[in-house]
Amino acid sequence: MTRILHLSDLHFGFHRRALTDDLLHRVNDVRADLVVVTGDVTHRAKPAQYARAAQFLKGIETDWIAMPGNHDVPLFNPLLRLLRPWARFRQTISDQLAPSWRSGNVQVLALNSADPFAIQRGVLRRGQVAAAMARINPDLTNIVALHHPLQHRPGVDKNLARRAALTLEMLESVGAQIVLSGHLHVWSAGALLDPVAGGRVLQIQAGTALCARPGDMRNEFCVLDIRGPELTIERHVAPMDHPGFLPPEYLHFSRVSGRWHPGGHDPDQETEPLPTEPGATDTALSTAKTG
Ligand SMILES: [Fe+2]
Ligand SMILES: [Fe+2]
Repeated sequence: MTRILHLSDLHFGFHRRALTDDLLHRVNDVRADLVVVTGDVTHRAKPAQYARAAQFLKGIETDWIAMPGNHDVPLFNPLLRLLRPWARFRQTISDQLAPSWRSGNVQVLALNSADPFAIQRGVLRRGQVAAAMARINPDLTNIVALHHPLQHRPGVDKNLARRAALTLEMLESVGAQIVLSGHLHVWSAGALLDPVAGGRVLQIQAGTALCARPGDMRNEFCVLDIRGPELTIERHVAPMDHPGFLPPEYLHFSRVSGRWHPGGHDPDQETEPLPTEPGATDTALSTAKTG
């Protein structure tokens, strides 16, 4: 089994301070093989915010990889934003903007979807996508990780990243099975599976792990347990009006048929995934402006 913990949108500088230590303890308690941090590690890409983010990441007691989000590019320093957009990320978080990781039959390939020429909207760069596609091996579980989602659920009023739809199609065509993303501050897993159109890529869109914006309603992270074609997702939620994390919820998916099905390997025995928490759709609309 391979255990991967997915964190996103930490937003250090505008983070929920009272939850920070608890989050780190829980991350380490999971004893994951890898922690994937899908961007927005800082709120405004300021040096002190990067330092706090780096301190948190240093406390993770296992392998971790991170990639930039739109908030990780300096906003108020146009020269730095345009000439050296990744300098602070490289200096404090990681020199690699699109890192990768492999253990056994699972590999994670990251893409840097942040765009210094846009405030929020992401971009999928042809060269990076081609490099990731070349490394995808249909015999493995291939996970692609990036900040901006490659597809939006109905009602999301943000612009989809440039070339997102084409990238999703190309990744699916070469055998990517899972896409991890963040940015929207709204949890979603399995909602975009379309058995008619394919159903070969399961998109897991993380909520924010630590952003303090009340409209987000909750902080959360999830854990992926991968056993061959079987996947269990453990979702840990800390509502804004609750002092810590609630007991986790579990969702099961299987791709034993080549297409993902919720609820296990036997489609006749499928169970519905746990419903999105009440208010999540509203949250998608109300928080879509600053994610
Ligand atoms: Fe974002
Ligand atoms: Fe964010």
